Amino acid sequence: MEDNLDGSILDAPKILITPPGPKSLAILKQQEVYETSALNYPKYFKIAIDKAQGSTIVDVDGNVYIDMVTGISVVNLGHNNPYIKKYVETQLNKVWHTLEIPTEIRVMFAKKLLSTLGFKAKLLFTTTGADAVEAGVKIARWVTKRKVIIAFEGSYHGITSGTLGFTGANRFKEFNPIFDSFVAKFPYPYPYRCPFKDCVNDILSLIDYAISNPAYLGGEVAGILVEPVQGEGGYVIPPRGFLKGLREIADKYSIPLIVDEVQTGVGRTGKMWAYQWEGITPDIVCISKSIGEGIPLSMVAYREDFDKLPIGFHLGTYRGNPLGLAAGLATLEFIERFDILSRVQRLGEKVLSELKEEISNPHVGDIRGLGFMIGIELVKGNKDPLSEGVKKAIEESLKRGLLVYKAGRWDNVIRLMPPLTIPEKLLFTGIEILKDILNNV
Ligand SMILES: Cc1ncc(COP(=O)(O)O)c(C=O)c1O
Repeated sequence: MEDNLDGSILDAPKILITPPGPKSLAILKQQEVYETSALNYPKYFKIAIDKAQGSTIVDVDGNVYIDMVTGISVVNLGHNNPYIKKYVETQLNKVWHTLEIPTEIRVMFAKKLLSTLGFKAKLLFTTTGADAVEAGVKIARWVTKRKVIIAFEGSYHGITSGTLGFTGANRFKEFNPIFDSFVAKFPYPYPYRCPFKDCVNDILSLIDYAISNPAYLGGEVAGILVEPVQGEGGYVIPPRGFLKGLREIADKYSIPLIVDEVQTGVGRTGKMWAYQWEGITPDIVCISKSIGEGIPLSMVAYREDFDKLPIGFHLGTYRGNPLGLAAGLATLEFIERFDILSRVQRLGEKVLSELKEEISNPHVGDIRGLGFMIGIELVKGNKDPLSEGVKKAIEESLKRGLLVYKAGRWDNVIRLMPPLTIPEKLLFTGIEILKDILNNV
């Protein structure tokens, strides 16, 4: 299968003019005139994109970049992947919008997706990642007739008025002080910054204690909502046993375990679903981002025996878009056909050990990863976060033709999320660039 599955431009990166070039600048300026001052990503990536192929992106000035951002873990099989494109084009010639009225592609997708989960489930389509979380929590509350949701510090589940309550970072709450407040937050096991003696078991004991005392939490618990690896929170990988422990607590108190796989799912960690690393099955799974490969598609999968939801329980005009469903079916087939999961496990480990062995910089506090979720945490002395260093690394990488991004509670983690299909040559060229920046700049 190696080694250009996604149709990348293999001689990337190519920098013809230091970005932002004049054409990019002109378009960025126009964007500022027409769009909100709240734009985020153009502040980090000062380019305008002309086109993209596989793991490479071309800006309007002709510069070619290696993409390790994938639109925040969305275009996991590479931009314009020919396999996905064929399915989408076929659907494009049939029908684009049908509400919930079934199409062949809709049932084919549903059957295929459900076959990957490891438990008997039903699907409810939603419109975004946050909407999938809203729906997942709503189902848990409906089924249990309880209110309180257990969530975790450092988590990110979206910024709608509902999900903002489950999301850890307070900075988003400044913009919208009205959010779901039937939420109890607990620490998330963060091996690099763990204040406990036993990071997993101490936290699990605390949660168990709190649930067994409903007065402590202000009500009975309707669901435990967790990311198997924290994404926006800094690619924090909890030690093995955490998810399993949550599963045991959930069973003990008959509480649905809601796993948010919006960022970790569809092969990103080297398993189809990150919860499969722990050999557990959740009760509810929230899915979005890479399942549609850039065509918005999201859904919540929940235990079949929870399926007593009334008609119209959750609505949304765009749920289950046929083009997204075509992309989704192609995505699941592609991962299977080209054995993408073992590729991600193998190359993820190789990248991680290369970074660990070959980066020597006192500001690199921790290097961690699972599959193609790789984080490099930058610190000053005493583990104080060094967010300026991350900003500088993103800027310097861009200049050299590599796109990387940030994550973390303090924006101090360099986040690598390359396409799962990235040709090895491009993967290790990109890693070379980053190593050089971290070792020398
Ligand atoms: C784990 C997780 N859940 C939910 C969301 C929200 O998804 P969306 O931005 O599509 O609403 C994100 C987005 O980054 C995410 O990483």
